[in-house]
Amino acid sequence: MLRPRAGGVAIVLVPLPTVLAVRAARYGGDTPLDNLEIANIPDPVAGPGEVLIAVGAASLNHHDLWTLRGVGSRPLTEPQVLGCDAAGTVLAYGESEVPDGAPPLGSAVVVYAVMTCGRCAACRSGDELHCPRVGLLSEPPYPGTLAERLVVPVANLVRLPAAVDLVAAACLPTAYLTAYRMLFVRAGLRPGQRVLVHGATGGVASAVIVMAAGNGLTVFATSRDEAKRRTAVELGATAAFTTDRDSVKQVVAASDGGVDAVLDTVGEATWDFSLRVVRPGGTVVVSGATSGPNPPAQLNRIFWRQLTIAGSTMGTREELARVVELCATGRLHPLVDSVRPLSAAAEAFAALAGGERHGKLVLEPGG
Ligand SMILES: NC(=O)c1ccc[n+]([C@@H]2O[C@H](COP(=O)([O-])OP(=O)(O)OC[C@H]3O[C@@H](n4cnc5c(N)ncnc54)[C@H](OP(=O)(O)O)[C@@H]3O)[C@@H](O)[C@H]2O)c1
Ligand SMILES: [Zn+2]
Repeated sequence: MLRPRAGGVAIVLVPLPTVLAVRAARYGGDTPLDNLEIANIPDPVAGPGEVLIAVGAASLNHHDLWTLRGVGSRPLTEPQVLGCDAAGTVLAYGESEVPDGAPPLGSAVVVYAVMTCGRCAACRSGDELHCPRVGLLSEPPYPGTLAERLVVPVANLVRLPAAVDLVAAACLPTAYLTAYRMLFVRAGLRPGQRVLVHGATGGVASAVIVMAAGNGLTVFATSRDEAKRRTAVELGATAAFTTDRDSVKQVVAASDGGVDAVLDTVGEATWDFSLRVVRPGGTVVVSGATSGPNPPAQLNRIFWRQLTIAGSTMGTREELARVVELCATGRLHPLVDSVRPLSAAAEAFAALAGGERHGKLVLEPGG
């Protein structure tokens, strides 16, 4: 654009390149979905140690709703691009050469969403979730994944085998990784054991059902909704129950004295149920508190029945690679509710907030 100026000298205004992104323009309020906007943001540029990715598919998580509500692990003030999950193609590295061991340009990759310092003892030992500077994509100061292009550290790439497409891969980094760690690391479940998960068609819950059933576990689910209970069974649950107190006896009977583990992301609304249906000596794994974080703890029940309460968050990069491997070998097919272009983000968020989705909501920023 040329703008003439007195004296005949022209100032040349070169517009900065931009990309489309879905972001929270503000936080909180009675209708958090109104905080959502699709905006042009500066095209990101990879610096040293970083990689630029063309995002082919990105999925939504309940975490994005928490952000719109203004709930986060760090203060939210400026507009923030949403999204923890992305899969796409490597466009450029911050260095002129491809870094040692990194995927070549043009490779399909999935992005590990956990941000760490990469230097501390925890990071060096592969236990990066205990890094004192741990953060998550879409939490300040990190970018979100619901954008046409994304810059992340090279260390956050996991290369995709040809058998795993971008839509499936975009489901993995939060819901499926969280489900994997809860089931196989924190609860330590083995084939033949019994597990109950609350919720049937939510992101984490559906991931748990699909993953547990596909790996030799007997899985039970709960849901407040009859249609969702049917879906849980279609996904591979042996049976699905209401969350009423009356269902406790039915679960204990169906699991021959109680399940080996309960996976609870609901919190206050289901905590009592969880403590009652787990077998003596069993484990309750907690990785969320959608309905509230402060149920009565019932310490007497915990010590008398010798229960283990285990917190769980996301998973390691190595565990994400194992989840990708499960997909590549056909032992895991992520449940996708729908795939929409980025421009239809508002519809996808309405489905997330309304809870009427069956599986992961995926956006295709390039679509
Ligand atoms: N720590 C981590 O690393 C991590 C990772 C992922 C998610 N999370 C957390 O886990 C939770 C679930 O995430 P998501 O993405 O799976 O969410 P989502 O797709 O929105 O699912 C929410 C689930 O919670 C159930 N639910 C909600 N309120 C309930 C209530 N009052 N009583 C019973 N069930 C209720 C719903 O089941 P029905 O409608 O079928 O009853 C649904 O399955 C969120 O709080 C999220 O922040 C944590
Ligand atoms: Zn660290």
